[in-house]
Amino acid sequence: MNGPRVPENPGQFPTTRMRRNRRTAWSRRLVAENRLSVDDLIWPVFVHDGKAKRAAIPSMPGVERLSIDLLAQAAGEACELGIPAIALFPATDAAKKTPDGDEALNAENLVCRGVRAIKEACPEIGVMCDVALDPYTTHGHDGLLREGQIVNDETVAVLCKQAVNQAQAGCDIIAPSDMMDGRVGAIRRALDEAGFDDVQILAYAAKYASAFYGPFRDAVGSAPNLAGGDKKTYQMDPANGDEALREVALDIAEGADMVMVKPGMPYLDIVRRVKETFGLPTFAYQVSGEYAMLCAAAEKGWLDRERVMLESLLAFKRAGADGVLTYFALDAAKRLKRG
Ligand code: PBG
Repeated sequence: MNGPRVPENPGQFPTTRMRRNRRTAWSRRLVAENRLSVDDLIWPVFVHDGKAKRAAIPSMPGVERLSIDLLAQAAGEACELGIPAIALFPATDAAKKTPDGDEALNAENLVCRGVRAIKEACPEIGVMCDVALDPYTTHGHDGLLREGQIVNDETVAVLCKQAVNQAQAGCDIIAPSDMMDGRVGAIRRALDEAGFDDVQILAYAAKYASAFYGPFRDAVGSAPNLAGGDKKTYQMDPANGDEALREVALDIAEGADMVMVKPGMPYLDIVRRVKETFGLPTFAYQVSGEYAMLCAAAEKGWLDRERVMLESLLAFKRAGADGVLTYFALDAAKRLKRG
């Protein structure tokens, strides 16, 4: 993290001139406090059924859903660029969605096939899978719906099975994004009991009920299922900061190896507080809506896409994040390689 704070005696103008260090490019490079590297990137990718099939997502310019064969190619490219990990998200066929999201437990579901394809194409890249039922449920919620309520403990039992299913397919990082209480501990026990004590858990610890997830719900096709409903009874209230620290503390106690704050840019204060308070690997998710707004403005010619991409990603580093889940990952890795 960043070094000392403002010194007691910061100097005085005109002896001190802050602009001296900024005068030349070499000097600016020399005094830069934070740097973005390819090692900081996790690339979220959407998969769908079919062969050699790609589909644009209109609300996420430049992002496509890929069939499994194309996913294997994309993983190869990410691997070559040195991206450490890919996060997989399924756009499940509407016909396979059920009220209880049983497809999540199918060993042949899109995510499991995707994990295996990536591992075959590129064994050295890490694969991360979401644990939540929303890509599979007819109501679009992350948990089980009983008499109008998302029930906690019954959901957690299913999430444990989902996590083990994904670990059996070869998933390296299990990422519970559902925000049920007690799920991290229950998933840890289930993984250990199934012999997956080496599988990491990256908890979506502080996940807010955010309007910035809109384009993601288009991408996985859960928007029509949710039909204007919201997730406020399980995701956090954007008004709260202290509560995020409590969520993180609980997830650490339950066995999370790493934690995440989500969304990213509007919640950089939370990233900073989490990193400073707990010091464990802390990630931020630059979510679909953040990506969409930067791209939309760039398409209009109002912002420079490449520069806002790099600036926004660097901001996560400055806030204390160890890495960022970003739809820009491939573009950023290419740009960083160019130097
Ligand atoms: C599902 C999930 C969501 C995202 C990641 N996992 C959406 C949601 O909670 O409704 C959002 C990611 C993004 O917007 O890019 N549990």
